[in-house]
Amino acid sequence: MGKGSGFGKVILFGEHFVVHGLPGIASAVGLATDAIVKKGIGTELIVKDERKGTEGYSASKREQQKESFQRMFDMMGLDWKGKGFEIWLGGDLPIMSGIGASAASSVAIARAVSEEFGLDYNDEKINAVAYEMEKAFAGNPSGIDNTVATYGGLIWYKRNMAGGQNLMEPIKIKQPVEIVMGNSGVVADTKKMVEGVAERKKQFPEKYGAIFKKAEELAFDARKALEAFNLNTVGKLMDDNHALLREIEVSCPELEELVKIAKENGALGAKITGGGGGGGMVALTPGKELQEEVASAMEEKGFQVLRTRIGV
Ligand code: MEV
Repeated sequence: MGKGSGFGKVILFGEHFVVHGLPGIASAVGLATDAIVKKGIGTELIVKDERKGTEGYSASKREQQKESFQRMFDMMGLDWKGKGFEIWLGGDLPIMSGIGASAASSVAIARAVSEEFGLDYNDEKINAVAYEMEKAFAGNPSGIDNTVATYGGLIWYKRNMAGGQNLMEPIKIKQPVEIVMGNSGVVADTKKMVEGVAERKKQFPEKYGAIFKKAEELAFDARKALEAFNLNTVGKLMDDNHALLREIEVSCPELEELVKIAKENGALGAKITGGGGGGGMVALTPGKELQEEVASAMEEKGFQVLRTRIGV
């Protein structure tokens, strides 16, 4: 039996733009997916998914999940077919699009498989395997999700578009900050969202060029504001980032409603987090009181929420 865990994440700045080599900022949330794997059980690959969260999420991701397993076994050089294999998934990270559920499970499973087969993979290797697995879910992933799922923390991330080492730098902040993550309840297909942005970027080079330039400046300003612990500025930049995400057409009515509720109830900033088209959003709500106010306003409208912190 092998065991492993992977962190959930929230992207604070730069989702989608990060796929194309712009910097992004993401933080682990203090919740994780756990995996237990056992080889030599019957002759099939059995998945027991006990993760809780958005209805329909697991079923809609099943084919992508199967592909991710094959990518993992291929990369690890393991011939498991016909020998039987059981994968159990659980943990306290709710499954929803936007929280890095696929990356967290990929890291957890890769760690568990490494242990079960005595491979002794270090974090760097686990991260590389999880990146390979993420291709099944995101098509052309930037690597930000699996990097946070592997290492945790609050990070500045920049993909190396030439295929070399990606840049990952820890960002230090004075103290952890409360956030609320709102779940639109809509299961999103990250792969489709990433492909859609890439297509429109090609189709409208001028419009997208200008948006991408703003997104890059915004990420640098956001890093400075986070390091200076200037939360009002961080919030304002989150709002600006949301406007850019709306312009590249990755929002949806449920996410817009959640952002509106967050802002009306005092959040310093609110935006889509992750691939959009459904999935989650994040609101910056420093202090337990503000966090509670925003979270309960969302719950009153029937949305599932997560009260957590960044920079832990
Ligand atoms: C998904 O959590 C974040 C995206 O930027 C895709 C990626 O970076 O791989 C949409």
